[in-house]
Amino acid sequence: MKKTICVMLAVLMLCALAACGAGAQRETAETQAPAAPAVSSPAPEAPAPSEAPEPAGQAPADSAEGRRDVLVAYFSATGTTKGVAEKIAAIADADLYEITAAEPYSADDLNYNDRNSRSTKEQNDKSARPEIGSEPLDLSGYTTVYLGFPIWWGEEPRIMDSFVESCSFDGVTVIPFCTSGSSGIGRSGPNMEALAGSGTWLDGKRFSGSVSEADLRSWIEGLK
Ligand SMILES: Cc1cc2nc3c(=O)[nH]c(=O)nc-3n(C[C@H](O)[C@H](O)[C@H](O)COP(=O)(O)O)c2cc1C
Repeated sequence: MKKTICVMLAVLMLCALAACGAGAQRETAETQAPAAPAVSSPAPEAPAPSEAPEPAGQAPADSAEGRRDVLVAYFSATGTTKGVAEKIAAIADADLYEITAAEPYSADDLNYNDRNSRSTKEQNDKSARPEIGSEPLDLSGYTTVYLGFPIWWGEEPRIMDSFVESCSFDGVTVIPFCTSGSSGIGRSGPNMEALAGSGTWLDGKRFSGSVSEADLRSWIEGLK
């Protein structure tokens, strides 16, 4: 009988121990970090191209710091040369700079039938240097400058002389171009080259105001 009681007590103790072990296992499982959810939340979206920030140190292409290395600089009294300059800039992927007179030319000033008009007097005086009104131009960073102007009395307007004397063309290839009623570019290029005293000057070319984009393109391609 004693034996039976001992065996029963031993069985009871074993059962109690087994129950404790199961509780400890459950606790361990409950205190573990929760598993990651099966569906993760979407990664944050990359900004759209237009929202992407500028890389550090790079400015947009048309800002002063990020400008191109080709420039079209031009003077135009009545808009004809301006139109050609804009086409050249588009084809050559160039910056544009307009040379303006501090005192703009009026219709009377441009009257070439009047020997006393401002333009006639200026063209008759090789030392005339009309004042420039546009912001001074720093050519550093430019390797090529297309230089445009109208023909006045067979050559460049004197304001072009003011302009080339105010610039340093060191390291720059200068390509003169002009518009006119019918006259050629004449000695305008060599005149300005002598006054500038720097730069590599190519032969210039005369265009009519209605020159086609295709003709301008083949001229530009032919310069390379
Ligand atoms: C004062 C003056 C003188 C000009 N002299 C000539 C000339 O000698 N030969 C010519 O073919 N055209 C001459 N022209 C016409 C201009 O060269 C032509 O209209 C040019 O395309 C005007 O360009 P712009 O509109 O850019 O100023 C003259 C025009 C002016 C105002």
